[in-house]
Amino acid sequence: MKIFPAAFVCAFTLAIGSTAWNQEATPKATTATDDGSDGETGGYPPGELGEMVRLGETLVRETSSHPMTKPLVGNSLNCTSCHLDAGQHPQAASFVGVAAAYPAYSPRESAVITLEERIANCFLRSQNGSRPANGSKVSVAIAAYLTWLSRQTPIDMNPTAPLGPNHLTFLDGDAIEPDIPNGRSLYADRCADCHLEDGSGSDEGPPVWGEQSYNDGAGLAKVLKMASWLKVAMPLDDADLTEQEAFDIAAFINSHSRPKFQPEIKK
Ligand code: HEC
Ligand code: HEC
Repeated sequence: MKIFPAAFVCAFTLAIGSTAWNQEATPKATTATDDGSDGETGGYPPGELGEMVRLGETLVRETSSHPMTKPLVGNSLNCTSCHLDAGQHPQAASFVGVAAAYPAYSPRESAVITLEERIANCFLRSQNGSRPANGSKVSVAIAAYLTWLSRQTPIDMNPTAPLGPNHLTFLDGDAIEPDIPNGRSLYADRCADCHLEDGSGSDEGPPVWGEQSYNDGAGLAKVLKMASWLKVAMPLDDADLTEQEAFDIAAFINSHSRPKFQPEIKK
């Protein structure tokens, strides 16, 4: 098991293994967005490319409210709602290194897909929305940001899954029988303060079921993926659930209704 200090620098080091690298190459996205007005590149590349990477990070953080992405989103989630810290969290569906895995084979699509297509799939499913066109500014900006988080990661195209080197570690679902009633009481104790008893969300945490949530075609709609994500992500800043608890809560959350994935209507 890897040990992940909070600092992103360490996640990046893990992502690139023992490859030589220098301090200047360290991503500094967090400071860059915080001080976007001071004219410094904040670790982004200079010029137009840096502007595109910066826009991509903004869209990942403000997906449901930014004027460029709002029309493409059908719920109140942002990419960063699940890809914590705008994908810079080392474990919670990390974006670090992800660009190096593409083109990748997707069993779900029965096709070899590009990074832009993988991004579009999260718009369709996790964001319950519609696909940004390949080559559109939204798609290019987000792909640019993910590629920037992946620089110096050796290219290693994934022939079996559209997943990067720091993807979620899946728990062993066969070993555990989820207990939904126990999930209900754990949710009330550990989660409802932020996500509310009825799952509809608050200023402290986004909706986890209902009309404003991810649809039933999303990764998190599967109990195994949800449990694996919860294990490393929630409660926020205090992810201490046991595997059994993560499965119990995941099964409880996904026993509620949510939007239906509509591949034909949403284009
Ligand atoms: C409701 C939660 C959720 C939201 C919102 C969401 N995603 Fe995802 N996304 C996931 C999960 C779960 C995975 C699978 C991650 C894994 O296995 O590591 C995933 C996978 C991905 C991957 C592939 C990761 C890899 O390792 O290859 C990309 C790229 C991606 N999402 C981009 C986005 C973008 C861009 C947005 C915003 C437009 C977004 N996602 C919104 C849950 C979400
Ligand atoms: C202190 C408040 C807080 C607590 C407690 C908390 N969460 Fe969250 N949760 C958040 C925030 C905030 C996000 C979005 C992360 C972001 O935007 O940075 C989130 C995201 C999520 C998501 C992914 C996005 C979505 O809404 O579908 C799920 C699922 C989730 N939490 C489930 C849980 C569960 C289950 C628990 C209890 C074990 C829990 N959370 C406890 C604040 C909290």
